Amino acid sequence: SSQVRLYHQKVIDHYENPRNVGMLDRKLQNVGTGIVGAPACGDVMKLQIEVDDAGIIKDVKFKTFGCGSAIASSSYMTTLVKGMTLDEAGRVKNTEIAKELSLPPVKLHCSMLAEDAIKSAIKDFHSKNPSKNPLGRPTL
Ligand code: FES
Ligand code: FES
Repeated sequence: SSQVRLYHQKVIDHYENPRNVGMLDRKLQNVGTGIVGAPACGDVMKLQIEVDDAGIIKDVKFKTFGCGSAIASSSYMTTLVKGMTLDEAGRVKNTEIAKELSLPPVKLHCSMLAEDAIKSAIKDFHSKNPSKNPLGRPTL
Protein backbone atom coordinates (compact mmCIF):
# COMPACT_ATOMS: atom_id res chain seq x y z
CA SER A 1 0.00 0.00 0.00
CA SER A 2 1.05 3.64 -0.26
CA GLN A 3 1.17 3.72 3.55
CA VAL A 4 3.80 0.97 3.61
CA ARG A 5 5.68 2.72 0.83
CA LEU A 6 5.65 5.97 2.80
CA TYR A 7 7.17 4.33 5.88
CA HIS A 8 9.70 2.55 3.74
CA GLN A 9 10.77 5.90 2.30
CA LYS A 10 11.38 7.28 5.78
CA VAL A 11 14.00 4.66 6.54
CA ILE A 12 15.61 5.20 3.13
CA ASP A 13 15.58 8.98 3.62
CA HIS A 14 17.36 8.77 6.98
CA TYR A 15 19.80 6.26 5.52
CA GLU A 16 20.62 8.30 2.41
CA ASN A 17 20.49 11.72 4.10
CA PRO A 18 21.43 11.01 7.69
CA ARG A 19 20.99 13.99 10.03
CA ASN A 20 23.62 15.11 12.52
CA VAL A 21 26.47 12.88 11.39
CA GLY A 22 29.77 13.79 12.99
CA MET A 23 31.43 14.08 16.32
CA LEU A 24 31.73 16.42 19.29
CA ASP A 25 34.87 16.90 21.40
CA ARG A 26 34.46 14.17 23.98
CA LYS A 27 36.95 15.88 26.31
CA LEU A 28 34.51 18.77 26.86
CA GLN A 29 32.84 18.69 30.26
CA ASN A 30 29.36 19.21 28.85
CA VAL A 31 29.64 16.48 26.20
CA GLY A 32 28.41 12.96 26.90
CA THR A 33 29.54 10.10 24.67
CA GLY A 34 27.84 6.75 24.25
CA ILE A 35 29.39 3.90 22.28
CA VAL A 36 27.40 0.70 22.05
CA GLY A 37 27.54 -2.49 20.03
CA ALA A 38 24.92 -4.98 18.94
CA PRO A 39 25.95 -8.50 19.93
CA ALA A 40 23.64 -9.93 17.26
CA CYS A 41 25.58 -8.47 14.33
CA GLY A 42 28.64 -6.60 15.58
CA ASP A 43 27.40 -3.19 14.44
CA VAL A 44 28.62 -0.20 16.46
CA MET A 45 26.95 3.14 17.15
CA LYS A 46 28.51 6.25 18.69
CA LEU A 47 26.18 9.01 19.83
CA GLN A 48 27.23 12.25 21.52
CA ILE A 49 25.23 14.94 23.24
CA GLU A 50 26.16 18.51 24.16
CA VAL A 51 24.19 19.73 27.16
CA ASP A 52 23.57 23.35 28.13
CA ASP A 53 23.40 24.76 31.66
CA ALA A 54 19.65 24.17 31.84
CA GLY A 55 20.07 20.47 31.13
CA ILE A 56 18.83 20.73 27.55
CA ILE A 57 20.49 18.80 24.72
CA LYS A 58 21.59 21.59 22.43
CA ASP A 59 23.61 19.52 19.97
CA VAL A 60 23.89 15.87 19.07
CA LYS A 61 26.07 13.92 16.64
CA PHE A 62 26.38 10.28 15.68
CA LYS A 63 28.54 7.85 13.77
CA THR A 64 27.19 4.40 13.07
CA PHE A 65 29.16 1.54 11.58
CA GLY A 66 26.31 -0.73 10.71
CA CYS A 67 23.35 -1.60 8.60
CA GLY A 68 20.96 0.87 6.98
CA SER A 69 18.36 0.44 9.71
CA ALA A 70 20.92 1.22 12.41
CA ILE A 71 22.07 4.34 10.54
CA ALA A 72 18.47 5.44 10.01
CA SER A 73 17.62 4.72 13.67
CA SER A 74 20.50 6.80 14.97
CA SER A 75 19.75 9.62 12.52
CA TYR A 76 16.11 9.72 13.62
CA MET A 77 17.13 9.50 17.29
CA THR A 78 19.30 12.62 16.92
CA THR A 79 16.39 14.58 15.45
CA LEU A 80 14.16 13.44 18.34
CA VAL A 81 16.43 14.29 21.27
CA LYS A 82 17.75 17.65 20.09
CA GLY A 83 16.08 20.22 22.33
CA MET A 84 14.96 17.66 24.92
CA THR A 85 15.98 17.57 28.57
CA LEU A 86 18.23 14.67 29.54
CA ASP A 87 15.30 13.20 31.40
CA GLU A 88 13.06 13.27 28.33
CA ALA A 89 15.79 11.89 26.08
CA GLY A 90 16.38 9.03 28.50
CA ARG A 91 12.77 7.98 28.09
CA VAL A 92 12.78 7.66 24.27
CA LYS A 93 12.00 4.05 23.46
CA ASN A 94 13.34 2.01 20.57
CA THR A 95 9.75 1.04 19.71
CA GLU A 96 9.06 4.70 18.93
CA ILE A 97 11.90 4.68 16.40
CA ALA A 98 10.97 1.28 14.97
CA LYS A 99 7.40 2.47 14.48
CA GLU A 100 8.39 5.72 12.78
CA LEU A 101 10.79 3.93 10.43
CA SER A 102 8.53 0.88 10.09
CA LEU A 103 11.32 -1.55 10.88
CA PRO A 104 10.51 -5.23 10.51
CA PRO A 105 10.91 -7.46 13.62
CA VAL A 106 14.31 -8.75 12.46
CA LYS A 107 15.56 -5.15 12.50
CA LEU A 108 14.26 -4.21 15.96
CA HIS A 109 17.70 -4.63 17.50
CA CYS A 110 18.96 -1.87 15.16
CA SER A 111 16.60 0.62 16.85
CA MET A 112 17.55 -0.84 20.25
CA LEU A 113 21.11 0.21 19.48
CA ALA A 114 19.89 3.84 19.22
CA GLU A 115 18.10 3.61 22.59
CA ASP A 116 21.19 2.07 24.20
CA ALA A 117 23.39 4.76 22.65
CA ILE A 118 21.43 7.75 23.96
CA LYS A 119 21.18 6.16 27.43
CA SER A 120 24.92 5.52 27.40
CA ALA A 121 25.63 9.13 26.34
CA ILE A 122 23.42 10.46 29.16
CA LYS A 123 25.16 8.18 31.66
CA ASP A 124 28.55 9.43 30.49
CA PHE A 125 27.42 13.03 30.87
CA HIS A 126 26.26 12.37 34.44
CA SER A 127 29.49 10.62 35.39
CA LYS A 128 31.44 13.63 34.11
CA ASN A 129 29.13 16.04 35.94
CA PRO A 130 28.39 14.44 39.32
CA SER A 131 27.44 17.79 40.84
CA LYS A 132 24.36 18.01 38.65
CA ASN A 133 21.15 16.23 39.46
CA PRO A 134 19.62 13.64 37.11
CA LEU A 135 17.88 16.36 35.14
CA GLY A 136 21.26 17.82 34.34
CA ARG A 137 20.54 21.01 36.25
CA PRO A 138 23.14 22.33 38.68
CA THR A 139 22.28 21.43 42.26
CA LEU A 140 21.87 24.53 44.45
FE1 FES B 1 25.68 -6.51 8.86
FE2 FES B 1 24.36 -5.16 10.71
S1 FES B 1 24.42 -7.26 10.37
S2 FES B 1 25.56 -4.42 9.12
FE1 FES C 1 22.53 -5.11 13.46
FE2 FES C 1 21.11 -3.45 12.10
S1 FES C 1 21.55 -5.48 11.60
S2 FES C 1 22.22 -3.06 13.87
